[in-house]
Amino acid sequence: MNVTVFGTGYVGLVQAAVLAEAGNKVVCIDIDEDKITRLKQGHIPIYEPGLEPMVRESIATGNLSFSTDAAVGVEHGELIFIAVGTPPDEDGSADLRHVLTVADTIATDMTVKKYIINKSTVPVGTADKVRATVTKRLTERGLAELPFDVISNPEFLKEGSAVADCMRPDRIIIGTSERESEQKLRHLYAPFNRNHEKILVMDVKSAELTKYAANCMLATKISFMNEMANIADKVGADIEAVRRGIGSDPRVGYQFIYAGIGYGGSCFPKDVKALISSAEQLGLSAEILAAVESRNEQQKHYMAEKVLEHFDGDVQGKVFALWGLSFKPNTDDMREAPSRVLMERLWEKGARVRAFDPEAMEECQRIYGDREDLELCGTKEAALKGADALIVATEWQQFKALDTAEVKNLLRAPVVFDGRNQYEPEEMEEAGFCYYCVGRPDTSAC
Ligand code: UDX
Repeated sequence: MNVTVFGTGYVGLVQAAVLAEAGNKVVCIDIDEDKITRLKQGHIPIYEPGLEPMVRESIATGNLSFSTDAAVGVEHGELIFIAVGTPPDEDGSADLRHVLTVADTIATDMTVKKYIINKSTVPVGTADKVRATVTKRLTERGLAELPFDVISNPEFLKEGSAVADCMRPDRIIIGTSERESEQKLRHLYAPFNRNHEKILVMDVKSAELTKYAANCMLATKISFMNEMANIADKVGADIEAVRRGIGSDPRVGYQFIYAGIGYGGSCFPKDVKALISSAEQLGLSAEILAAVESRNEQQKHYMAEKVLEHFDGDVQGKVFALWGLSFKPNTDDMREAPSRVLMERLWEKGARVRAFDPEAMEECQRIYGDREDLELCGTKEAALKGADALIVATEWQQFKALDTAEVKNLLRAPVVFDGRNQYEPEEMEEAGFCYYCVGRPDTSAC
C-alpha cells in the first residue's frame, strides 16, 4: 500500500521502517531539512536497536524515502499517519499544534480520499479536532464533499525494543467507525497479525483513551511499588522479596513492579500529566494519577537523599562515579531521566560527577554542555577512578555483574548507591561495601 508518515521521531520512523520492510511504499515527511538529508543517507538520529539496518535496506529497495515536501507526501499516501510530537503545554496538557498543522497540510493538498491516522499520543477528542481542521480547509477549497476518515491507531512501542514491538505487537488498536477504514488497516497490519488475533477495533475515543490508560496503568504500578519500597525502608522489609511475593499472583503479575528511583522517558511523565489535565478540564480530579505523578517526582530524589545522609549533608568537593544516564537501558534518551535530578542535586551541593553510559554520553553532553563539575568518562572503570562513591542510576546489562574487588580498588571508599537494586546486599556486605539500595536494608560494612 502507499503510506505516508508525517514526523520522523521514534514513533514515525519505526512505524515507517517496519511498514516499508513489510513491502509497502512509504514516504516520510519532516520539516527538519537537516534530519531528512541525513535520513536519506541512512543516518538515524536516535539509538534504537535494529532500526538503522532496516531503514538502510528499505531505502535500497526503494520502499522507503524521505522528503520535506508535504505535498509529495499527501499525493503519495492513501494512508497518511500523523506521528508528530505532542509536547506538554505549561499546564501539562498535550500541545496539539503540530498534529493540527499536519491535518491542515493534508487538507490543503489532498485531491482524493485519504485515510488520516493518528499515531501520536493525543487526548481524547483529538480525532474530532483533526476532522474539523480538515473539513474547514476542504470547505475553503470548495471541496467539502471530498471524503476522508480520521482513525486513531495508537502505538505501544517501548524505546530500546521499538522495532521488535512494532514487528510483534501485543495488540493493534484501530479506532474507527467506518468499515472501509477498518478494512484498509486490517490489510496494512495483516503481516503483523500472526499467531492469534491482535486487532481490536473500537470507536475513535476509546482508542484514544486506551493509549493513556495503558501508560497510566503502568506508571501506577511503578509508583505503587516505589511507595511500598519507602514503607519497606521504614519497617526494615525487603521490597525485592515483596515483589516476588506479590508478582506470583497472576492478577498482579511480575512485570512493571520493580522499585527504583522513578520512571522517566518521553511517555509516562507526559501522559500521566496530560490525563490529569484532561480530567481537570472535564471537571474531574484524577486523584490516583496525581498521586502517581507526585510519588514519581519525590522518588527521583530518593538516592540523592541517601547520598546526602551518608555524607552528613556535606558533599562539597566530593566526586561521584555515576553509572547510567539514560532513563532506562538500551536507549540514549535522557528525557525526564532520574539521573538528571540526581546530578543536579549533587551539583547544587558542590559535588562533581564522573559519568559513564553505554549510549547516552553524547546526549548528556548536548544537554549539559561543558560543565566544570561533570566529566564524561570513556569506560565504567574510568568513572570510578578516585571517586568517593559509585551511584547506579540505570540498569544497563553491563553494570549487572559487579567486579567488587576492582570497584573497591578504584574507588576512594567502598560505597555504592544502587538506584535499581542490581546487587545482593549480603554479597555487598561480605565484600566490605557500604551498600545503599531501594526498599531494602542498607549495609554498612565500609
Ligand atoms: C512506555 C510504554 O511501555 C510503551 O508501551 C509506550 O508506548 C511508551 O511508554 P518507554 O517510555 O519506552 O515505553 O519505557 P518503559 O520501558 O515502559 O519504561 C518506562 C520507565 O519506567 C523507565 O524509566 C523504567 O526505568 C521505569 N520502570 C519500568 C520502573 O521504574 N520499574 C519497572 O518495574 C518498570
